[in-house]
Amino acid sequence: MTSVFNVPSTIIVGGGASEEVGTQAKRCGARRVLLVTDPYMVNSGLAGRITDILKQAGIAVTLFADVEPDPTDRNVADGLSAFQEGDCEAIVGLGGGSSLDCAKGISIMTANEMPISQYAGLHKVPHKGAPVIAIPTTAGTGAEVTKVAIIGDTERDVKMMMLDVNILPDCALVDYQLTMSCPPDLTANVGIDTLVHAVEAYVSVKANPLTDPIALSAIRLISENLLKAFNEPDNQNAREGMMMASLQGGMAFANSSVCLVHGMSRPIGALYHVPHGLSNAVLFPAVTEFSISGAPQRYAIIARVMGYASENDPDGVACSALVKGLKKFNEDLKIPHLGDVVGVDRATFDQKVEKMANDGLASGSPNNNPVVPTAAQIVDLYHQAW
Ligand SMILES: [Fe+2]
Repeated sequence: MTSVFNVPSTIIVGGGASEEVGTQAKRCGARRVLLVTDPYMVNSGLAGRITDILKQAGIAVTLFADVEPDPTDRNVADGLSAFQEGDCEAIVGLGGGSSLDCAKGISIMTANEMPISQYAGLHKVPHKGAPVIAIPTTAGTGAEVTKVAIIGDTERDVKMMMLDVNILPDCALVDYQLTMSCPPDLTANVGIDTLVHAVEAYVSVKANPLTDPIALSAIRLISENLLKAFNEPDNQNAREGMMMASLQGGMAFANSSVCLVHGMSRPIGALYHVPHGLSNAVLFPAVTEFSISGAPQRYAIIARVMGYASENDPDGVACSALVKGLKKFNEDLKIPHLGDVVGVDRATFDQKVEKMANDGLASGSPNNNPVVPTAAQIVDLYHQAW
């Protein structure tokens, strides 16, 4: 069996990496760029700082700051109009996963025919679009290094997952200093998303020798740093560790895969607009417990790397400790339960739960899980997480 490993050709890591944006835009041959971000980044002054750096490098900037928390095909269409009006040549994505995914979606549409929904799925983007420079401000989705974008389809009320090497950013500027003001709840949500990326990459049926060491490194960094970053927001070492974990988690899952947690999480986001990291976090312990029997040795290694079990513990003991440890991790990070975040009562939730299970299965991600579930088992897992 062969494995493919794709990452951006340039990744710059460390405090101050975002200041390279002008140099990197020039390297991409751009004289005019579209800056894709959200209103929060404008209000915080960060979009202005990146704009200033670009202008100092002699690059004209068109601002598109209308990215919504779950970017949709409409956001992509509006961003494409701004790109065309500004006669832009490259795209700078600044923000969390939503802004970076929207930047990738706009890039696709600079070189391919509408509508974007036809490119959902695996390897369906015919042409590479305008170059993307990705600057994450959370740790994180890892979206700066992945060939994946999630865009909401407003007609069908589903989240489209697109995976293609033509979606890969050209450059990732991974600057932990941009995460220092990330509030604790967001730090926790996106931090668990990172952990899910690394764990799913490691237990996936598509795990491979290139992704395994990166995934385990990310898992170790998260267990060492996430609680610290949550409890001590000013802890630079913890923030730096989490930013590295986010980058590694992204590199791992994009070249292995995500699995059942992500498959079940997307319908929660599409129907109830729960942030991606949070919808993953509420599902993670129950889905882990369900999946262990398909890859007990790998889950046992994860338990040992996270310090929940020792080298001497048998795999079964380590796996039980992992489930217990992940539940406690959620509690320590003040992650609520599924029933607390969807904003509807259980009876209303149950009216749509079978559609959610089927949408989750249709995304393809559950097929990579160590245990491939039936729709009925997915319904049961939603109920367990409730
Ligand atoms: Fe994710």
